[in-house]
Amino acid sequence: MNNSTLMKQLAAIGMVALTAATASLAASAALAAPTAKTIQVMSVKDGDAASPQAAIWEKAPAAQVALQPAFPGHSSIVGTPVTEKLVAQAICLGDQLYVKLAWIDRTANTVIGDTNKFADGAAVQFPVNGKSTTTPFMGDANNAVNVWQWRADGRTQNLLAKGFSTAMTVPSEGLKSASVRTDSGWAVVLSRPLKVKPDEGANLLGKSTMPIAFAAWDGENEERDGLKAVTLEWWQLRF
Ligand code: HEM
Repeated sequence: MNNSTLMKQLAAIGMVALTAATASLAASAALAAPTAKTIQVMSVKDGDAASPQAAIWEKAPAAQVALQPAFPGHSSIVGTPVTEKLVAQAICLGDQLYVKLAWIDRTANTVIGDTNKFADGAAVQFPVNGKSTTTPFMGDANNAVNVWQWRADGRTQNLLAKGFSTAMTVPSEGLKSASVRTDSGWAVVLSRPLKVKPDEGANLLGKSTMPIAFAAWDGENEERDGLKAVTLEWWQLRF
């Protein structure tokens, strides 16, 4: 075998090794990447996290969550949602999870009425099966999502959905919300026991990570239903 053939073969072997190395690097990078879209849950034994103004929130890690327009689910409701981002924090206190959301919204729209008055709102969404293989676009026929929704008109809703046009309110005693107006917008805390009955929503007990998605509605911009700003992918709550 002459030298040049040998050199060519060695080069080829080198290329294969290099491609394999980069592939495993990409894989480990992909595995490592989740931190980019992760909210570290601060676990504490006692304290008070129910109010958005509670001092404990100053210690909880905060994530800047970029929002994008949800693509129109119904052709009858179209527009451009205005909320571009929110700040998310999470505290696990005893057997309860508290999620605080804060975002800019210059107008407080707290009543719905007439035909074009809508309330401000925000929500978090979890896959009921706890898997990020569930679509974050309100789930699908086989994979439900559980949504906790705060509305500025004072209603707090627990919803289950299996895709668009399937969202239904399911009572959840333990789901609570508290909200305040800030200088620039809203700060809201949604809280619920980690464990609920299976038909009530997603179980969060014993999880090391849990996919979570976000949504915000600006009532001033007539946002409601599918007309809202959302995360088009799952973030991860890391307990
Ligand atoms: C691209 C993603 C999404 C699309 C296209 C979408 C679309 C829709 C549509 C069409 C509706 C109207 C009712 C229905 O058809 O069920 C709706 C309602 C709703 N969606 Fe979504 N959705 C998306 C993501 C999300 C996310 C991430 C959340 C929560 C974090 C969420 C929370 C809700 C809630 C709470 C309602 C009920 C609104 C109300 O009754 O006030 N959605 N969505």
